[in-house]
Amino acid sequence: MSEWRDDQHVAAYLERADALPRAEAEAILLDELPAEVRRVLDLGSGDGRLLRLVLTGHPEAFGVAVDFSPAMLDLLAERFGSDERVEVVTHDLGQPLGDLGTFDAIVSSFAIHHLEHERKRELYREAWSLLRSGGVFANLDHVASPSPRVHVRFLEAIGYTPDEEDPSNRLLDVETQLAWLREMGFADADCYWKWRELALMLGVRPR
Ligand SMILES: C[S@@+](CC[C@H](N)C(=O)[O-])C[C@H]1O[C@@H](n2cnc3c(N)ncnc32)[C@H](O)[C@@H]1O
Repeated sequence: MSEWRDDQHVAAYLERADALPRAEAEAILLDELPAEVRRVLDLGSGDGRLLRLVLTGHPEAFGVAVDFSPAMLDLLAERFGSDERVEVVTHDLGQPLGDLGTFDAIVSSFAIHHLEHERKRELYREAWSLLRSGGVFANLDHVASPSPRVHVRFLEAIGYTPDEEDPSNRLLDVETQLAWLREMGFADADCYWKWRELALMLGVRPR
């Protein structure tokens, strides 16, 4: 049973979500997307914050939001219910994505770190196969620190005690994830922004 199916867990995250120092990373992510985005997929969309940012910059684009949390799905319906450009898909990212069509951009913020490492890797491969050539995969995520001390310093910096840490986190270092992206063939795969345990990992499916 994932914590994200619990309404109180969702409410507690959303209360603090804006306080994360994410604005600069989101701006870089938006800046690295292709000039023309016709379809965008947001993995673990939550209340649709990142998808809204992408669609604001690309008003001609269609978006697909994927999540499995009932409370988040309600918020997605509230935010995008009347927007014909957005399809909300109820799906557990622990399972293969299936055929969602092809995309110019596949984005995600603070969601993929909840998956087991092997599933993270499979999901990256699925993202590759759903991207058009020239398409961008961008994962702004919570990553592992090099030591417990640095991890606790991160928690302090975002106002959490170790007891309040999300038990559904499965943190993995940036280096391993970038190595996977490069092995899969992503071009320009790099960490485009980092602050403590928050990192923007991004790669392009070459033309
Ligand atoms: C920390 S929130 C981030 C939400 C949003 N992307 C944001 O940036 O604010 C993590 C999101 O990932 C979703 N999530 C976690 N595990 C998931 C899974 N296995 N399948 C689908 N969604 C998942 C949660 O339901 C939640 O909406």
